[in-house]
Amino acid sequence: MADTTGKGLEGVVAAQTRISDVDGRQGRLFYAGYDIADLAAHATFEETIHLLHHLELPTAAELSETVATLRAESVLDPLLVDLIDSLAQRTEAMTTLRTAVSAAAALDPDDDRSPEANLRKAYRLIARTPQIIATYQRLRTGADAVEPRDDLGVAANFLYALTGKQPDPQTARDFDVVLVLYADHTLNASTFAARVAAATLADMYAAATAAVATLQGPLHGGAIEEVREMLEDIGTPDRAPGWVRERLAARQKIMGFGHRVYKTWDPRATVLRGIAERLGRQFGETRWYDTSVRVQETVMAEKHLYPNVDFYTASVYSALQLPPDLYTPLFAASRMAGWTAHIREQYADNRLIRPDSEYIGPDPRPWQPLESRG
Ligand SMILES: CC(C)(COP(=O)(O)OP(=O)(O)OC[C@H]1O[C@@H](n2cnc3c(N)ncnc32)[C@H](O)[C@@H]1OP(=O)(O)O)[C@@H](O)C(=O)NCCC(=O)NCCS
Repeated sequence: MADTTGKGLEGVVAAQTRISDVDGRQGRLFYAGYDIADLAAHATFEETIHLLHHLELPTAAELSETVATLRAESVLDPLLVDLIDSLAQRTEAMTTLRTAVSAAAALDPDDDRSPEANLRKAYRLIARTPQIIATYQRLRTGADAVEPRDDLGVAANFLYALTGKQPDPQTARDFDVVLVLYADHTLNASTFAARVAAATLADMYAAATAAVATLQGPLHGGAIEEVREMLEDIGTPDRAPGWVRERLAARQKIMGFGHRVYKTWDPRATVLRGIAERLGRQFGETRWYDTSVRVQETVMAEKHLYPNVDFYTASVYSALQLPPDLYTPLFAASRMAGWTAHIREQYADNRLIRPDSEYIGPDPRPWQPLESRG
């Protein structure tokens, strides 16, 4: 019998990657060797996309090309807009996104699976995902879809497409940083799902769809929305300590805390906490941030658990007044950069991913005719 690994594959190294690395003890994250703190301070999402896909920061010329490609590819085919329109009133956001990402395969102009075509497909997926989300939001609220502008980057264009108004530069940059922070995170569940699908040589869209599907659950991407629900439920900062203690006493999990890899502060949460505080002040709504801080203090004191990336993102998105059911889709909009990079890396050095299982069912036994059962 094969060795049995820890439940949830803990501690198993299931792939080699050059794309990102986590040091869970030190609380550090690197994209191709660059510290996430440096990237959050200096890099745009477009630079990060190039870095994840080419493992080097872009030159000025490469960056201009990346920006131009992403802008050109962000315009949605009318068929996709029609599909989103017909789903918008009756289907939830992550289901619409998953369906639209899958349907986008039918509209892709590249019909081969060469590395060059796969890079183009990757950039199309990255460019279109935020526009799918913004279009969904516009159409379900009875507004017209807004075409992306060719003078704005991915982050500003998303906020523009969502609201029809150009965001101020600081808000656009804050959202850009959120996209940088969420762009990749080694072999998390959705990236693993993408690589498992890619390892069967399923196409780029199939593997990306598997990733979106896997992100949906509350133990992964769905946690941000659950944090928002928790903050709403708590209501005001002074109620946070009692609320948290009650949940912990009932052995319930507090969303946005704990992590399989980090055993200290998640470096992304540190940056997001700062953004949440500033945006709260800028938009005159500090309740989310203030409540989050009290929750964090109580969870750390009572349970010694650190906040993960999703905890302060809920306050960031609440300050930006983004609809809560778009939080997980926005995670996908950023992580599409990492997923597609991992899918390409898997194709480049592939072997089918097929683990063993440990059988714990009944011993071999004779067939029982129907009339002798029960
Ligand atoms: C992220 C997560 C799924 C990691 O799970 P994991 O590595 O399997 O860790 P476990 O669920 O086994 O947790 C280990 C211990 O910490 C506790 N714990 C972990 N996260 C907790 C949380 N958010 N609230 C309260 N207790 C928590 C568990 O109850 C368990 O305690 P026990 O040993 O007394 O039973 C888990 O921490 C979690 O469910 N967090 C909330 C959801 C979330 O924020 N997800 C986003 C992740 S980025």
